Amino acid sequence: MIGRVEASDLRSVSILANSRLRENYSIELFQHLYEDQPGCFLTAKEDNELLGFLVGVPVNGTSLRILMIAVKSTRTRHGIGAMLMGSAETYASIRKMNSIVLEVGTGNEDAIGFYNHLGYRMTGLIPEYYKDRSDAFVMRKFISM
Ligand SMILES: CC(C)(COP(=O)(O)OP(=O)(O)OC[C@H]1O[C@@H](n2cnc3c(N)ncnc32)[C@H](O)[C@@H]1OP(=O)(O)O)[C@@H](O)C(=O)NCCC(=O)NCCS
Repeated sequence: MIGRVEASDLRSVSILANSRLRENYSIELFQHLYEDQPGCFLTAKEDNELLGFLVGVPVNGTSLRILMIAVKSTRTRHGIGAMLMGSAETYASIRKMNSIVLEVGTGNEDAIGFYNHLGYRMTGLIPEYYKDRSDAFVMRKFISM
């Protein structure tokens, strides 16, 4: 169910991203992320239907930074997000990275609850992080290698 993204997934990924995430992302961005293979680009599928995706990129070789994660709105609270994050943690651990880091909107209570449940802790605040000038918390989880 969790696998590496394929070229044929990119349109569905772009539609899901733009329906679930606060910023707008072009299909070209996902094509770039796919073609450059800079890190961890995963999908969650059932019967070839895209239910979720995650993009993470390495930072200094020591952390994996989660750029995006989203699960289809009709399929939340079924463990799909946790599976995607678990696969990202495995990706980082295999590459001897010591933590996963991410930014989350200070008002995104769903995602904050989700990350807390998975063991992520707030380590900072970035004022005016988003295009609409709202703030983000930085959250991090140390992983064992
Ligand atoms: C955040 C998101 C990825 C979570 O995905 P998900 O598949 O619903 O998460 P899971 O089912 O794996 O949740 C695992 C646990 O996290 C916690 N959790 C998940 N959603 C939560 C919520 N809305 N409120 C509080 N805790 C939550 C729960 O403890 C949950 O376990 P439970 O359902 O057995 O109680 C999903 O809600 C989403 O796509 N949100 C919109 C996009 C977004 O905000 N992305 C993050 C940007 S930083």
